[in-house]
Amino acid sequence: MTFPQNQQLPPDTAPFFRIREKDLLYDICLLRDSLRENWGNFCMGYSVKTNSLPWLLTYLKEQGFYAEVVSETEFDLVRRLGFRADQVIYNGPVKDRPTFETVLLAGGYVNLDSTWELAWMEELSRLYPDRSFSIGLRANVDIAALCPDEILVEEEGGRFGYCYENGGLKTAIQRMNALPNVKVGGLHLHSSTQSRTVAVYGALAKTAVRIAREYALALDYVDMGGGYFGGRGDKPDYRDYFPEICRNLGEFFDRERTALIVEPGISLISRATTFETLVLDCKDIRGRKFLVTSGSRVNLNPLVTRHSYPFHAEYCSDPAKRPIEASQWICGATCMEYDRLFEWKNAPALLPGDKIVYDTAGGYTMCLNPLFIHYFPAVIIEKTDGSLFTAREAWTNDEYLQKNHW
Ligand SMILES: Cc1ncc(COP(=O)(O)O)c(C=O)c1O
Repeated sequence: MTFPQNQQLPPDTAPFFRIREKDLLYDICLLRDSLRENWGNFCMGYSVKTNSLPWLLTYLKEQGFYAEVVSETEFDLVRRLGFRADQVIYNGPVKDRPTFETVLLAGGYVNLDSTWELAWMEELSRLYPDRSFSIGLRANVDIAALCPDEILVEEEGGRFGYCYENGGLKTAIQRMNALPNVKVGGLHLHSSTQSRTVAVYGALAKTAVRIAREYALALDYVDMGGGYFGGRGDKPDYRDYFPEICRNLGEFFDRERTALIVEPGISLISRATTFETLVLDCKDIRGRKFLVTSGSRVNLNPLVTRHSYPFHAEYCSDPAKRPIEASQWICGATCMEYDRLFEWKNAPALLPGDKIVYDTAGGYTMCLNPLFIHYFPAVIIEKTDGSLFTAREAWTNDEYLQKNHW
């Protein structure tokens, strides 16, 4: 792929995201190799919501990824960036009817989730009697019962798809089976958990087998969704997940007949992405040290729930010659009190001019930024040959004022 050359870094004080192409390629290859070795017949989707940076989407498209979208807006975005409708996986609880029809008729993947989508299929079956459709159903299974040690995202369990345990999934299958030209060709099993263990993916794969057996489904695909860890030395990665998933799928499914679909987001882009901020000020307030930096908690954690981030410091002068501070609070550039990122204990005293670089910062950050006081930071790509490319310029009032009227 060729990019126009552009060697500019943002001004010194500005925070920016950096994506290293070499690391991105590493994780893409890790995913592709794991799927090739363990299943062979696969489709790599990328979760657009995780990071919809146009540069990233087109890069992944050229690497053979499909776009996993959950809204009309995302579908429009990926179409504008060159994805065909048959290179789309359409998921989500609130789908747009024209988008649903476009993806379905083009032969893309559509995974039904809501009650009214079953009625849409009944209608489309009548409207297009000469076409045959293979659709997927999102299965909602009781993860807490399958894996009692798993830490769930929400205590009450997942809310997406059709419930297996209470017969909702069975009803959906029966309604689709009653249509002469519609077949349940796929099961979608994405389930987010906090602990993201290998065991939960094994249990989900087993569940796909159980459902396909129980309802005699001849599946074209099993979609395991996303939610994996990746790019973190202390956690599992694709090389751990896919042997476990495929061992379980292999108990029942024929690799030639049934494709494995994946929709990773965060695990694909974490290793490659950093968020780089500068220490601007160092304040002593009644014995506490507050460091003001150019980035903000809202850039990394817009929901302001976290107080720990993987990071490293880049010092502007020898840290060995600095005193050790028992506690330093790293704070953001907004004027909100809660804009404190983390407390750094027993570390060399930070000084203006040092950099705090947040690692694994690619998912749910650069496109999930509130336009609060400052706008979207720039995104710089460090290409494999070391040259730099500006994928997104920092937003200014030129962008903010668009479509406003006064
Ligand atoms: C259906 C679906 N697929 C894929 C993903 C991507 O998840 P992650 O970014 O954790 O890999 C999500 C995230 O919530 C999702 O809901």
